[in-house]
Amino acid sequence: MLFKIVKDNKPSLRQKCVPVEVPYTKEDKEFVLEMVDYLKISQDEQLKEKYKIREGVGLAAPQVGRNIRALAVHYPKYDQNDNVTYVTYALLNPKIVSNSVKKVALSNGEGCLSVDDDHQGYVYRYFKIIVKAFDAIQDKEIFITARGYDAIVLQHELDHLDGILYYDHINKKDPFYKDPSGQLI
Ligand code: NI
Repeated sequence: MLFKIVKDNKPSLRQKCVPVEVPYTKEDKEFVLEMVDYLKISQDEQLKEKYKIREGVGLAAPQVGRNIRALAVHYPKYDQNDNVTYVTYALLNPKIVSNSVKKVALSNGEGCLSVDDDHQGYVYRYFKIIVKAFDAIQDKEIFITARGYDAIVLQHELDHLDGILYYDHINKKDPFYKDPSGQLI
């Protein structure tokens, strides 16, 4: 059974999620790995059609009905020679341990599987972060250093664990306000 996505009209999406209990159980690890599978399915043209779901690069536990601190990311990354590698994490209790002063935002704005309406505007986030988490794929505690797009995706998902949605960050008076310490990518 595929997860059903919780939309942004549900109060549960606005709550702060509780930490996953340590030691991590097999069920907790399997749950977050299943979230990665959802993203993989969402990026497969045929399966996406079959299940009538939207394509996503990240997913947080509250979006699939569990208010625990768990998130998944999965997306391709291309180098200058067009070689592809995948950024894939299945994280339990992720936490930002350091961040840059410099900010970054996507020039086309952000989107979210839980948000069906389009919210135009820049979402500024830290350009660089270091995240500490347990990764269920590597089955160990890891530190992730993420910059630019990678940092944006992680911060979007981390926000979900505190009940924050991307459009909360858009400047109300001037959605396309250019942050002097920020860069658009
Ligand atoms: Ni989202």
